[in-house]
Amino acid sequence: MTAAHPLRVTLKLATSLDGRIALANGQSQWITGPEARGQVHRLRAEHDAILTGIGTVLADDPQLSARPNGVVSGDQPQRVVMDSRLRMPADAAMLTGTPVWVFHACDASYGFANAKLIQTEADEAGRVCFKAVLDTLRSKGVKSVMIEAGAEIAGSAIRSGLVTHIEWFRAPMLIGAEGIACIAGLGLEELALAPTFQRISVRACGADLWETYQRG
Ligand SMILES: NC(=O)c1ccc[n+]([C@@H]2O[C@H](COP(=O)([O-])OP(=O)(O)OC[C@H]3O[C@@H](n4cnc5c(N)ncnc54)[C@H](OP(=O)(O)O)[C@@H]3O)[C@@H](O)[C@H]2O)c1
Repeated sequence: MTAAHPLRVTLKLATSLDGRIALANGQSQWITGPEARGQVHRLRAEHDAILTGIGTVLADDPQLSARPNGVVSGDQPQRVVMDSRLRMPADAAMLTGTPVWVFHACDASYGFANAKLIQTEADEAGRVCFKAVLDTLRSKGVKSVMIEAGAEIAGSAIRSGLVTHIEWFRAPMLIGAEGIACIAGLGLEELALAPTFQRISVRACGADLWETYQRG
């Protein structure tokens, strides 16, 4: 039996200094500057797949293509959406370009143009099981995936213990406690159980800071 290949799982975060991704009213564009956004496109191009949640699709309608030079070119990462109940709108920008993989946990009798629906097991909350998504991606030959999602998916990813790297872009801006935190609750009752990461680099990126961490 051959061992499954390792999967690099990168969580990308673009936040204020105090770790917020949006105001309480949802306004989020743009917290980080153009240099950070350019770097995110280069990171996308370096990963086999980009994963987001339906919350981000509904809020921002992203395309999630890699545009390191401002245009879509070269091999594109596989785009992946976790959408338990198939709430993806038929006119979503994600449904243009190369087919997107939509993981869901409900019975579906219909499909979208330009999307491959993949039914998977549900987690205890009835949502697409994060680990099952990663197992499926690995079985399809994906070796690296970058998560670009809101707090809910980021929280599930961290809780799974499967995130190997964090790319954190931090803008010199403070939003305050009423803003939306970048990672949903982890349910920790002891500090000793907090997931830890080791910082492997920190650089200036325009006006922002770009920190890279790997699992500690
Ligand atoms: N600054 C950044 O780096 C960044 C990046 C992306 C997005 N954002 C911001 O994040 C906000 C959206 O946040 P969000 O938390 O609503 O979006 P999200 O994390 O992208 O998506 C959350 C949705 O994904 C679905 N889902 C399916 N399986 C899940 C699982 N195992 N765990 C968690 N969720 C699962 C759930 O809906 P169902 O139960 O219906 O499936 C859930 O409501 C927007 O304001 C956007 O601008 C910020």
